[in-house]
Amino acid sequence: MSHLDSTLDTLYERHLELSNKVDWGYHNLLPWERGRNFNDDPWSPDQGTISPELTVAVETAMLTEVNLPWFTSGLNAVFADAPSAFRNFVHTWTREEDQHGRILDVYLLLSRNGEPEMRDRIRKNVIGTGWNIEDSDPFSVMVYTSLQELATRVFYLNLARAAETQDPVLSKILRVIAKDETLHYAFYRDAAKAYIDEDPSRIATVCRIIPQFVMPGFGMPNFRQRLQVIAKYANYGIYAYYQNVLKVVLEFWGVLQYDVSSGTRDARHTLDQYLTKLQRIAGRQTPAAE
Ligand SMILES: [Fe+2]
Ligand SMILES: [Fe+2]
Repeated sequence: MSHLDSTLDTLYERHLELSNKVDWGYHNLLPWERGRNFNDDPWSPDQGTISPELTVAVETAMLTEVNLPWFTSGLNAVFADAPSAFRNFVHTWTREEDQHGRILDVYLLLSRNGEPEMRDRIRKNVIGTGWNIEDSDPFSVMVYTSLQELATRVFYLNLARAAETQDPVLSKILRVIAKDETLHYAFYRDAAKAYIDEDPSRIATVCRIIPQFVMPGFGMPNFRQRLQVIAKYANYGIYAYYQNVLKVVLEFWGVLQYDVSSGTRDARHTLDQYLTKLQRIAGRQTPAAE
């Protein structure tokens, strides 16, 4: 077994141990006492417990999470020939992610936040459309998933803070989901680091992937408007992405400290240009203004 393989096995074992400690069941967290029959008591907009803006944020999260069958099939294909730790991780990751879409969907129904019929239509549409993984290279996907899992973690924590005064039950649900996302991030982040340590020229791939990053929900209806609402009311926008996601990942992997060799010079130049642009946009936003 190679050094890389055994490092990855250790990371997977660590994930299992930590995720078993935060294991949770949605039956414990959902406000079942709020549930009412929609046939006898039809939905109306005034029944919600949180603001329409927070509802949009939670619905967007749910609509992203429910595309899990496609994320799993994409990752399974990408990691088919990768070390076994990845294939094992995808199974464990799937069973954890599976709870996220489900708990948010049931929460929205029980609490009567958002119109259930329209949400159902969009959800079916999103899952019917599916999702295609853009890259087939395992290392590139590790870079992408590291960013995506950390972005999700930060998003859920910011949303939990925004929901605190409106519905503490929702806030708690979001914090529990964020714990899962933290561990997902840690696995991919450390796996990618092990690959970089093995071959530092992989930094060029990191530089290439980062400017292309988009969250996996970009195909859903009104995605741009949804992001604007989330930036303004859930405090997760470009500032948070730049400051709490991108900079954290770049620093952990030591991307900007690597000596630029001729092979990575172009890629690094592209990344530098992207970071300058993003920093400028983020600088126009402060957390309070988002
Ligand atoms: Fe998730
Ligand atoms: Fe996750």
